[in-house]
Parts: sequence; structure tokens; C-alpha cells
Amino acid sequence: MEPFAASQNSTGLGEATSNDRLTVPPSAFQRTAEKEHDLFVAEQAYRRFKGKAENRPWLVRSTLDPLHGVDLKPGNPLHQVIKGLLDAPVLQRMRHISQLSAGSWVFPDAVQPRFGHVLGCAYLTAQLLDDLRPRVSEGIQKQIDQYGKAVVAYALLHDLGHIAPGSHVAQWVWFPQNSDAHEIISRKIIEEDPGFRAKLEGILGRQGVNDLSAMLREDGSVPQWTWQMITGGGWNTDRGDWVLRDGHFAGVKYGDYDLAIIQKYLTITDDGQFAIEEEGVDSLESFFRARADMYRQVYGHRTCKVGEQMMIGLGRRARELFQAGYDLPADAAMVEVLRAKNVEDLSLATVLRMTEYWANYHIDAWSSCSDLTLRELSTRILTRQPFKRFPCDDERHKILLKLVTESGLDPNYFLYRMEPKPIDLAKDLRNALKVKVGGTLVPLTQHSATMEALDKVAVLKSKPFLAVPMDCFKEYREP
Ligand SMILES: [Fe+2]
Ligand SMILES: [Fe+2]
Repeated sequence: MEPFAASQNSTGLGEATSNDRLTVPPSAFQRTAEKEHDLFVAEQAYRRFKGKAENRPWLVRSTLDPLHGVDLKPGNPLHQVIKGLLDAPVLQRMRHISQLSAGSWVFPDAVQPRFGHVLGCAYLTAQLLDDLRPRVSEGIQKQIDQYGKAVVAYALLHDLGHIAPGSHVAQWVWFPQNSDAHEIISRKIIEEDPGFRAKLEGILGRQGVNDLSAMLREDGSVPQWTWQMITGGGWNTDRGDWVLRDGHFAGVKYGDYDLAIIQKYLTITDDGQFAIEEEGVDSLESFFRARADMYRQVYGHRTCKVGEQMMIGLGRRARELFQAGYDLPADAAMVEVLRAKNVEDLSLATVLRMTEYWANYHIDAWSSCSDLTLRELSTRILTRQPFKRFPCDDERHKILLKLVTESGLDPNYFLYRMEPKPIDLAKDLRNALKVKVGGTLVPLTQHSATMEALDKVAVLKSKPFLAVPMDCFKEYREP
């Protein structure tokens, strides 16, 4: 392993080195409460200048969304929450976080950012709350009036904490020893960013922001349906959106299901549980199949998994070099990330800097560094060169190990034994929303024979496989 040449630091990327602790400057996505206030004052003045009456605070704002045709109405208080928060910098940051990481390695148009998903999820939630109102008891109607705005805000903000590269995979790239913490980061942003907090309090009130925090923690101070609707088991507005959206952008039919029917039969029971009427169960079954298919055919596609593994290898190598004291091209935020033990050690400024631009800036810089492993991984990620896959057996493993070693690459980084994570259907079905039959709630697996059968399949497993770069075969001779 060679240290980086001194000239590496004159690329313009090297103002921070692995040996300096630099303060991460505020991110473009941070705003002070004063700045937020100034913008509010400016907006009022602008409205007066344009001759917009106070009772007509904003124009109908239509967003061309391929799934829900998002159309925000000025007179709708739930839509006002979406409109009010949409331009907050921390939300606009979602435009720079990829929804599917290496998804586009297989499905070329699956490059959608998370912004469309969170907007879709919030719109769907607002629509659902309006649809539910006439169908639920008076007590639940009052709860919708009390918590509705915070629930819509929760839907819009539930994924704020995703980081690059590629949302979920980023957690394994930077903090492989920890579990996915994007929900913890979402809370951190909501609770620690003073400008955003001020904006949120302006829209939801202080109690509304406290309710929102309680929903994020799924704690008992708010009715269960308030968070079950967004993140509960079975169908929720988060999954309800991404199954359709990711299927749409991947160009597959697997994610398709009848959302309108599910929406029509969802309900909230008098004791505050999110549930579905019997008539909606057939459509719910098709949703479960759609979701399982998306896992198997899109998210779990083996080429995408290899791409993600290469990104994880990239993070591991960068950390290894950093810890060994090599002069790694890294900005101050990257230095903080490579030093951190877990995501909770990161400052807010660093978390907000971790967009796809930031990750790609470093991958591009590393693609011309002097460390062979980091350079090769970066180049292969940028130019989409997934490792080739082989069935997993000892004989093949021995040959592939020899080929990788002879080609001068480190098998720790260029020979993978991939064991796809099983999909635990049974666990999800156990936690799924229940079916309302007359006055009682029945578990979905008891009510539906298809769901009972799916429950018995329990875990969908894929076979393990080996993966190595194709060019290792350059010198290969048949034995
Ligand atoms: Fe999420
Ligand atoms: Fe989400």
C-alpha cells in the first residue's frame, strides 16, 4: 500500500487532510431562525407589492407527479402544511438523495430522488385523512382535527435523515457495524436545526411539533393511528407510495396494485387503530404480492446488490486508509464521517452535507488516487462495472481467489461471497394492520387464505453467489 503522493493535495480537494480536524462549515441546507424570519417578512412585502390579498396567501400549486397528480389546494389546511414546508432547505435537500442507489445499474431510469417520494407520501396522507373523516366516529374526527397537520408533516419529513450514497446503503457504507439510523437522523434534523424548527412551529404550533416528535418515536402520548398510517405494519402511506413509485421508475409492472380500492376501505377504529374493512382485503393481498415482488425483482436484483457491495467496500477502504494516516482527498465533512463510530457522532452540518453531490465528488477524486483498491473501486462505481456473478461452491471460490490475486487485486475487496438478506414475510404479516369485521379486529392471516399461505412461506431466500471483476479472467487458461 503506498501513501498518497503529496501532489494529491493540490487537486483542490485537499484543503482538509486526514490529520487535521477542521470545523465543518454550515451546510447550504441550514438556515438560522433569524434568516427564516427575514424571509417571512420579505414574503409578506412581496405579496403586498404583487397585490396579493392576505386572505389568499398562496396560489394553487400543482406539481406534476406521475402517480398522484399532486394538486395542492389553498383552502385545505392539510395541503397548507405541505405547501408551507416544501421550500424548507432541509426538505429541498431530498432532491439530492437517490431513492434506489444502484437501482439504475439495472433499470436505467430508476434515478429518482427521494423528494418525489416524500411529497407523494404526504399528499397521499392528506388525501387519506380527508377521505377518512366522514367514515370514522366523532371521537376520531376530533383526533384528525387535532393531529392531522402533524401527521401530514410526519409523512413529509419521515425520510429527512437519509444520506448519500443511495439512502439505505449509505448506512452500511459509512457505519457498517450499526443498524440503519435514518429515522434517528430525521429526528436530529427536526429537533436541532433552529431555522427549520422555527418554521415548523409557525405551521404546527409548539404542541404540534411535540406531537410530531412523539410520532417519530412512536410513543404513547399520541394515538397509534397517527404513526401507523405512515410507518405501521402492512400497508402505510410510505410503502403505499414507494412500491408504486419505484416500480414506475424502474419500468416494471411488479409494483402495481389498486391503491384507490385500499384507500376506500381503510379506516380508524374507535379505539384509535389503523385498520382495513373486509372489502379492501383483496386489494391489500395484491399490495403484499407487489411489495414482495419489488424486493425480489428490483431491490434484491443481484447486479444492484453487487453495486451496493462495491460501495460498501469503497467506504471500508476509505476508512482503512484514513485510519492508517494516508493523505486521503477528503473535505472536512468526510473527515468527520471517516472518524465517526456511528451516525449519532456526526454534527448536523455534516449530516446535511452528505448528498449525492458530496459522495460523487469524493468518489471522483478517489478514482485518480494512488491507492489501487480505492482507485479501482471508485472507477468501477463511476463507470458501472459490476463484478460478474458465479454460483457459490468451494471449487469455484478457489479458482476465483487465484485469479483475483494473480491480477494484483486484493481479494478482500474484489472477491465477494454474497448472501442476499432473506425477506421475512411472516414478521411483516404479523405486524400488519388488522381487518375490521363487524365490531372486532381480526389478524390479516386469519381472515385471508392467501395471506395465511404467504405467512407459511415465511421467509423468501435467495441463493448465495460469488462475484469478481470480469477482467480477472484476462490471463485465464482452461485447465
Ligand atoms: Fe424511511
Ligand atoms: Fe419513506
